[in-house]
Amino acid sequence: STDPLIVFTPSGKRGHFPVGTPILTAARQLGVDLDSVCGGRGICSKCQITPGLGDFAKHGVTVAADALSDWNAVEERYKSKRGLIEGRRLGCQATVQRDVVIDVPPESQVHKQVVRKRAEARDITINPSTKLCYVEVEEPDMHEPSGDLERLVLAIETEWGIENVHADLHILQALQPVLRKGDWKVTVAIHLGDEENAPRIMHIWPGYYEGTVYGIAVDLGSTTIAGHLCDLLSGEVVASSGIMNPQIRFGEDLMSRVSYGMMNAGGAQEMTQAVREGMTALITQIATEGGVDKRLIVDAVFVCNPVMHHLFLGIDPFELGQAPFALATSGSIRLRADDLGLNIHPSARVYLLPCIAGHVGADAAAVALSEAPDKSEDLVLVVDVGTNAEILLGNTEKVLACSSPTGPAFEGAQITAGQRAAPGAIERVEIDPVTKEPRFRIIGVDAWSDEDGFTAAAAASGITGICGSGIIEAIAEMRLAGLLDASGLIGSAEQTGSARSITDGRTHAYVLHDGSAHGGPRITITNPDIRAIQMAKAALYSGARLLMDKFGVDTVDRVVLAGAFGAHISPKHAMVLGMIPDAPLEKVTSAGNAAGTGARIALLNRDARLEIEQTVHRIHKVETAIEPRFQEHFVNASAIPNSADPFPILNS
Ligand code: FES
Repeated sequence: STDPLIVFTPSGKRGHFPVGTPILTAARQLGVDLDSVCGGRGICSKCQITPGLGDFAKHGVTVAADALSDWNAVEERYKSKRGLIEGRRLGCQATVQRDVVIDVPPESQVHKQVVRKRAEARDITINPSTKLCYVEVEEPDMHEPSGDLERLVLAIETEWGIENVHADLHILQALQPVLRKGDWKVTVAIHLGDEENAPRIMHIWPGYYEGTVYGIAVDLGSTTIAGHLCDLLSGEVVASSGIMNPQIRFGEDLMSRVSYGMMNAGGAQEMTQAVREGMTALITQIATEGGVDKRLIVDAVFVCNPVMHHLFLGIDPFELGQAPFALATSGSIRLRADDLGLNIHPSARVYLLPCIAGHVGADAAAVALSEAPDKSEDLVLVVDVGTNAEILLGNTEKVLACSSPTGPAFEGAQITAGQRAAPGAIERVEIDPVTKEPRFRIIGVDAWSDEDGFTAAAAASGITGICGSGIIEAIAEMRLAGLLDASGLIGSAEQTGSARSITDGRTHAYVLHDGSAHGGPRITITNPDIRAIQMAKAALYSGARLLMDKFGVDTVDRVVLAGAFGAHISPKHAMVLGMIPDAPLEKVTSAGNAAGTGARIALLNRDARLEIEQTVHRIHKVETAIEPRFQEHFVNASAIPNSADPFPILNS
């Protein structure tokens, strides 16, 4: 062809186009990801591109300075009024004159990638459910009568190729004044629809709308509810916030909430109302923090365990409290915000990820989406540690899942000096194996305590207790320092040679910190504390071990610790206790709140929803309660680290 060649980077897509073809037109024909909201009218500047200059030998192109057309009036006006970065052009105005290489910067791509903070499984590719479109609508005509909506829908279809667009009553109510105010030019936010729903107009603004639309991703946990408010178009997290789940007043753990519902008429409804009120409060809080109008939140994704899933939806979780633990539905759920009484845009789409099984919920599905064990070449064990541990084991061949009732000990509950992770809580512990003296760190103080277990800073801020990660480190360090035997019993002062070993009734305890001289608390680790952690870690390990049996392996290649608590556990101490299977320490990583990340992926990428629905179908569920070997593994795993499984790497 004698027509000029256009090569787009970074995609590498290329084609020949007649002289005078706008770059945006060429990009669309080649399927290059180049954004546009105004449809090529030189208003939105979403189509910005950078023409290359010079020798692009690898593309077989030499680019001359006049490869693109001169600036036209529209482009000049945009530049003088709004400014353009040096070297940038508007892709809808600049036309091709000669062979050229065109770079599409990330801001001009719809499907840009949001780089995740940690070295997590993968970046998130933005593929939003909602699109902003600027359109010019035909004015009404007495000779060809049609409604304003019909002409708007027609304009959307012709200019944007989006067919079958619907509108709710609130759009009809706003439509006529907005069209006239904008002189028949409007911007609409269109939810692109999904398997169950046609595309729908969510918002309409007169003229060109400069702003964006938002979505919310919520990890609805039994203890805390955490949400991320995201810009749906850029993928950026605008605000994050969390609240305690108000259902706690009906029971700390899930089973006590299920039984509250069984024992009290209307109990399930009360709990549904509580969690929805909590959600309303969280949304208000997060929108205020982000400075965002709640009505601009047009999409929401929720992940939660099966009991929270049912209670949030207003389904009595009774059946989940007894074998065979039948879910009302295990599939994903698509709703509207007003179905759940959420205080966001009333027609906002709500998506709940599918559940894996009666005990393995949408939160585990979200972890699977975030950590993608099904895409891992090496065998990965993913544990999401909370009151229940959700465990996934797999690789590209297959993925197995189970849950194990670890109880609340890892969160500091049932521990003498235990507390939630909050300022004042001991979170890190070291014990000198020779002197048996501890040093520790408390949350909110950026220093280790001195050898007396006390620093001026810590004293000033006040030590209040010990949190889950602190208790794990304390017990592991006690074991390493010989203060504790493999069965979990604390030695006496004579046996250990430490005055910190005290006799507490018929058993012994270790005094980690004695602040009584300063009017502070005395923090001890007692045998019942150790017993509680042994039970919790045995439940976690035996779940993982059971999946390894089913997979037919004795070792795993790597371990991912997920969950807010998982983020704070030290891999070394977890392994000393035998919480997780033996593995090289550098192969144990933390994924932070992977369930929350999974929710964010499903929010920002509409295709990820289909992906996780298919993945969940392929995950094999293992029910720990009916596996005879679970009990055996549990007993062995009660020892520190384990009475049956060797930990060769740990011991080397
Ligand atoms: Fe809007 Fe080019 S497409 S300015």
